[in-house]
Amino acid sequence: MSTVREKVLVVDFGGQYTHLIARRCRELGVYSEIVDHSRLREVPLAEYSALILSGGPRSVYEPSAPQLDPSVIGAGIPVLGICYGHQLIAKALGGEVMRSERREYGRTRVIVEDEESVLFADLPRQQVVWMSHGDVVVRPPEGFRVVARSEYGLIAAMESKELPVFTVQFHPEVRHTEHGTKVLENFLRRGAGLRERWNPLDRVAEVIEEVRRSVPEGAGVLLGVSGGVDSITTAVVLHRAVGDRLHVVFVDHGLMREGEAEEVLEVLRSMGLKNVHFVDARSRFMNALRGLRDPEEKRKAIGALFVEVFKDVASRIGRIEYLAQGTIYPDRVESGATGTATSVIKSHHNVGGLPRELGLGLIEPLKDLYKDEVRQVARALGVPESVVRRHPFPGPGLAVRVMGEVTEEKLEVCRRASAIVEEELTRAGLYDQVWQAFAAVGDDRWVGVKGDEREEGRIVIVRVVTSEDGMTADWMRLDHDLLDRISRRITNEVPGVAMVCYAVSSKPPSTIEPC
Ligand code: XMP
Repeated sequence: MSTVREKVLVVDFGGQYTHLIARRCRELGVYSEIVDHSRLREVPLAEYSALILSGGPRSVYEPSAPQLDPSVIGAGIPVLGICYGHQLIAKALGGEVMRSERREYGRTRVIVEDEESVLFADLPRQQVVWMSHGDVVVRPPEGFRVVARSEYGLIAAMESKELPVFTVQFHPEVRHTEHGTKVLENFLRRGAGLRERWNPLDRVAEVIEEVRRSVPEGAGVLLGVSGGVDSITTAVVLHRAVGDRLHVVFVDHGLMREGEAEEVLEVLRSMGLKNVHFVDARSRFMNALRGLRDPEEKRKAIGALFVEVFKDVASRIGRIEYLAQGTIYPDRVESGATGTATSVIKSHHNVGGLPRELGLGLIEPLKDLYKDEVRQVARALGVPESVVRRHPFPGPGLAVRVMGEVTEEKLEVCRRASAIVEEELTRAGLYDQVWQAFAAVGDDRWVGVKGDEREEGRIVIVRVVTSEDGMTADWMRLDHDLLDRISRRITNEVPGVAMVCYAVSSKPPSTIEPC
């Protein structure tokens, strides 16, 4: 049982910023969870101290658009409606929503009209917000007052005179909204009256206790580590909970970044973990991948072989009853564990399959945390800074950065070129500012000239993206001289490369990894 008493429930209506809302709440010290709107009825609302209704792509008056039971608002729980949520509340309580003649999109000025406003307390009368909507509330429900309008005279925010219900047409969760964080804070602290200060380290202390209580004396826990901050932090947390009953399996599938396998082993040892089982399965994975070109088939082959390798190791260790995984909160939501709206894109993040295969109980100590929270925890537990700062890396490793068949030659190009990208970004002081930075390679070729020789070589695609959580991403506007250095180094230092391209598509529509 969690000792967090004040929790905010973010109801997901399919908006692209739902995770941002939940994360901002946590940054403000309030624990938050996300639920898909279709499951709202199953949720014990009394456990939550506040509700936030997210944005969404639909129009509230479309027949099949998600609706809101007015009793949710009347339940006495403080509510903030954002964008679609604002319109839903208006409609559910008898106000009027219409398609707007003027679409407001992007940075928009709003003017606060009500000095008593809770949401805008201590904020300037005029401010810039981020709008993204085609519909507007044209008549507020009874008992609501308009507290802010956009520069075009449209309703930008409303507050109820009697209920703790607040609504905004704009997105306070995005950075483009000048005082967005303060608007959210005003809702949480003043509107909803929340007092607790949540910290991810408190959650970890609870998790350690929970694991101690639930894993019986003598039972072993098996954990696969990939080298990323999630799995290493999971190892350290579990080691505190069950000591040397933790068995860590590190499979070198040959799809790691340069120098990574050695570094991971060193880190695990330096953290005092005794039972580290290193499996060199490089040739088994290469064999399993031979001839496979389809991304999903490659992922499946890697996943299946992992299970096999794990089974082998587990059967040799003896009394293993639990399997631990470094799952974090966005993995679960993307895998459809909390809802329908966001589950489609990421069915390949196979977080759940392993324990059932192995007939073991599942422990996921970090499953409620976001990446930046995991990093915070990792630092506090003494995980080396190089691991804490390291960019996320996909489970199937370089197999999703080598397009088409995975061969030793393409892997080597990908590994060397990626190392150069990382080195140059670090040198430019940009490594920590980006979400991921790597090189990908496929089978397309380009003609190169070196001296008098013309020779076909591979095309390397450099991808550097900024992102808050990997679910949306933007390509990094890198300085041209830096791009030039990266390109020259790759063509000079990596044999067989004749062209370097820079990937300039954001997500959506493109994914971060090429396959
Ligand atoms: P995409 O490419 O879907 O990736 O935009 C979003 C984030 O997820 C990571 N990723 C994966 N992680 N197994 C993983 O564990 C996978 O199959 C996988 N595919 C993508 C990717 O690195 C990025 O951070």
